[in-house]
Amino acid sequence: MNYKRLGVIGGGNMAQAILRGAINTVIWPDEICVSNPHLQNLGLLRNQGVKVTTDNRESAAFGDVVLLAVKPQILESVLDEIEDLLVKKTVVSIAAGYSQDWLRQRLPQSYIICAMPNLPLTLGKGATAITPMDGVPRDAYRFASSLFIRSGGTFILPADKMNDVIPVNGSSPAFFFRLVELMAQEAEHYGIQKDMAVMMAAQSMAGAAEMLMKCGKTPEQLTQDVCSPGGTTIAALSAFDEMGLDQMVHEAFCRCIQRAGELGK
Ligand SMILES: NC(=O)c1ccc[n+]([C@@H]2O[C@H](COP(=O)([O-])OP(=O)(O)OC[C@H]3O[C@@H](n4cnc5c(N)ncnc54)[C@H](OP(=O)(O)O)[C@@H]3O)[C@@H](O)[C@H]2O)c1
Repeated sequence: MNYKRLGVIGGGNMAQAILRGAINTVIWPDEICVSNPHLQNLGLLRNQGVKVTTDNRESAAFGDVVLLAVKPQILESVLDEIEDLLVKKTVVSIAAGYSQDWLRQRLPQSYIICAMPNLPLTLGKGATAITPMDGVPRDAYRFASSLFIRSGGTFILPADKMNDVIPVNGSSPAFFFRLVELMAQEAEHYGIQKDMAVMMAAQSMAGAAEMLMKCGKTPEQLTQDVCSPGGTTIAALSAFDEMGLDQMVHEAFCRCIQRAGELGK
């Protein structure tokens, strides 16, 4: 079978982020149909030539591969609506918490891929964890994973790790945004314009991220490279240590993964 048409259920932030990287690189706009209850936010996609509809059954019927991009809370009602159209098709779910096992039981005649992308896919700089091929037809898997590959890095992970990866992947951009917000607030307190501080922190983060990816050093080694003995950065980091940043991050991971378990199946 030639897999080339994509049905997308839910045209929100994540769907649009994925499509931005995939359109005109791995898929033509007229090979995509997106359904969403309201069409006003889909203007950009429509202008590019993507078919948009309010009818989930239309996009489920359209796709050789169907991407489920609705909030976890409504996933089950959406499946009730379209499950008969998913028979023998490959279904890609990005819904936090819904396991591959659960989806396989719910859609026994479909092939299931779970993926956990993140918002920087919008700029082609995202990270996506994706389950292995594991029974999915090779061409369908190749087509489905290529949707994410053009938008950054993809990382194949066992299905039972898809909840555990959420904090480090799906949610981590928000952790970084929060840290920048806090740094900018502090900078403002010291008389530096907040907008400028946001940009400086963001530029520093982008550079630091690139160093991590390209220099072959660990985060710990790079931290050492910034710190001189008795210097300013060590003084700053001592507050992280004394006030328990590691415990805070540990707790954030626990809560994130626990919530995925509560939201999903
Ligand atoms: N955001 C992230 O960073 C991120 C990262 C990894 C995974 N995810 C996963 O991605 C999925 C989507 O999240 P999101 O952030 O993109 O949420 P979102 O922006 O709220 O998108 C969800 C979309 O689903 C639409 N929708 C609501 N009811 C629907 C229905 N019955 N049928 C079809 N579409 C319906 C919504 O339309 P209206 O707004 O018009 O009601 C909205 O456009 C979630 O399962 C989430 O766990 C998100």
